This record gives sequence, C-alpha cells and structure tokens, in this order.
Amino acid sequence: MRLKKPHWLAIKAVVFFVSLWPLVQLIIDGMNDGLGANPVETLHLTLGRWALRFLCLTLALTPLRRLSSQSWPLRFRRMLGLFTFFYASLHLLVFLWLDIEFSWHYFRQEVADTPYLLLGLATYCLLLPLALTSTVNMQIRLGRYWKTLHKLIYPAAILALLHYFMLVKSDLNQPLIYAAVIFILLVVRIQSKRIA
Ligand code: HEM
Repeated sequence: MRLKKPHWLAIKAVVFFVSLWPLVQLIIDGMNDGLGANPVETLHLTLGRWALRFLCLTLALTPLRRLSSQSWPLRFRRMLGLFTFFYASLHLLVFLWLDIEFSWHYFRQEVADTPYLLLGLATYCLLLPLALTSTVNMQIRLGRYWKTLHKLIYPAAILALLHYFMLVKSDLNQPLIYAAVIFILLVVRIQSKRIA
C-alpha cells in the first residue's frame, strides 16, 4: 500500500486508540458499577482475554505480510506486541494488587501450588524481553539476534494457551477457539515460509 507518512501516522493513531478501548470500557464500567457481582474477577478475566487476543493479532501479522506480499502489516507489529504486554501487565497487576495485596510470600506459595499461575508467570517472563527490546535502537543493537529473540512469541502463545486451558474448569469452548486460531496462524506461518 503506497501511502504517505502522515497517512500512516493517522492510521496508527486510530489503531492505537482502538487498542486502548477495552481498557477505557473497563474504566467506564467500573465507574458505573457495571463490572458485575465480582468486579475483580471481571477485571482479571477481561484483561487476560485481551492480552491473549493481542497476542493472536501480533502473531497474525507475519503470515499476513507473507500471504499478501505487502509490508504494511509489519508497521503494526511493535504496537500490537506492546499492547499484548500492556494488557498482560495490567492482568498481572490486578492479581498482585487486588487478589493478593502485594504479598510476596503468598505470591510464591500460590505460584508453587497452582500450575496455571506458574504457566501465566512463564508466559509473562517470555513477553518481558520482547517488550524491552521492541525499540528500533534495540533492534539495531541486537542485529540478527533480535529476530531469534522475538521468536519467543511462539512459545509465549503456547504457554498462554496452556495457562488458559488449565484454569478453565468446565467449558473448554473459548480456549479451544484460541487454540484453533493460534494453530492456524502457526501452520500458515510455517507454510508461507516454505513458499517464500
Ligand atoms: C504472572 C502472570 C500471570 C498471572 C499471575 C495470571 C493469573 C491469572 C489468574 C489468577 C486467572 C484466573 C482469574 C480468575 O479466575 O479470576 C487468569 C486468567 C487468564 N489469564 Fe492469566 N495470568 C498471568 C499471565 C497471563 C498472560 C501473559 C496471559 C496472556 C497473554 C494471560 C491470559 C489469561 C487468560 C486468557 C485468562 C482467562 C480469561 C477467561 O477465563 O476468560 N495470563 N490469569
């Protein structure tokens, strides 16, 4: 797509504000008592779900670029990747602050006793270096290692899925939908790499 720089800036601004909307909606609902009977759980689950959705969107960009032979999807990779980290950080913050009130002792105990929390933490630990090295400056400094490092997004997606599967007690429909989306994105990526 041949657009001028100001047009790309305008499109990016729209994507940025649309990506912020889930948080704005949660704030509006919170101020209007609209978070249901268990507001902390609603906050927690909604932020976790948005982190996973942004992870899927970020994963979709490389296959989209390969299949369309257009470079524009990559213009949004950094922003959507950072939104994944942003929502995952808020999800973690709600847990640390509202669930366990920053009790380090309780956190260690919970993570050791609850496998799905350990998987959530492992996912977050994989997303952290991706966010920290997302700047152009870091991309230049790390050179070819940057690409290798950023492949951590694939194990992160799989761990996030496992985190979801393990915490859901009965209805597996939602995690199965995300599993199907991530599976398709990984297959398309591998296939398009073979063709390229
Ligand atoms: C240290 C990091 C993390 C911790 C401690 C954590 C903790 C939790 C907890 C306790 C729940 C259940 C909430 C409830 O039942 O009220 C949950 C749900 C969830 N988390 Fe995490 N999580 C972490 C990281 C992540 C990351 C990185 C992602 C995604 C990228 C993620 C995605 C989800 C999803 C999708 C749900 C389920 C939402 C639903 O049931 O609709 N979590 N997490």
